[in-house]
Amino acid sequence: MTGRPVAPTRVLFVCLGNICRSPTAEGVLRDLLAREAPRLAVDVDSAGTADYHIGSAPDPRSQRAALRRGIDLSGLRARQISRDDFQRFDFVLAMDQNNLRELKALCPRKPRAQLGLFMSYAPEAGRLDVPDPYYGGDSDFEAVLDLTTAASRGLVTALQQRAE
Ligand code: 4NP
Repeated sequence: MTGRPVAPTRVLFVCLGNICRSPTAEGVLRDLLAREAPRLAVDVDSAGTADYHIGSAPDPRSQRAALRRGIDLSGLRARQISRDDFQRFDFVLAMDQNNLRELKALCPRKPRAQLGLFMSYAPEAGRLDVPDPYYGGDSDFEAVLDLTTAASRGLVTALQQRAE
């Protein structure tokens, strides 16, 4: 290992509104990196496919669920994905299959980013989607924390292997 600075790997999480699942994933991955892989250079961001909530803070129910695990989402603000994002990021990871379909429709022909489903990093969970909790209750927001934590663990392992 040399002292040469390494360009950070850039990860963008995407859901529909960018107020529930993807900001939670952003906060969870940042927290995990800070605690368990502080030397791994990763930039994390999130965006929505829709424009409904641009400029809004994460949903209060997502903020409360994250805070119960010591993760503060209050400083995040929603934005909509743009075509530039496919060139600016290394990984663009969708929360569900609908989001991924939208991303593929929007994606330029030769993206820098690798597109995929976030849950593919937690095969042991046996599911492809982080379900949308927006019309759900507390347990649905807890499930978002559980699933994004499992997938973040797998993603950190994959990013560590990529950096070796
Ligand atoms: P998210 O959840 O995609 O996880 O941020 C949603 C947020 C807002 C809406 C739907 C889902 N909405 O219909 O406004």
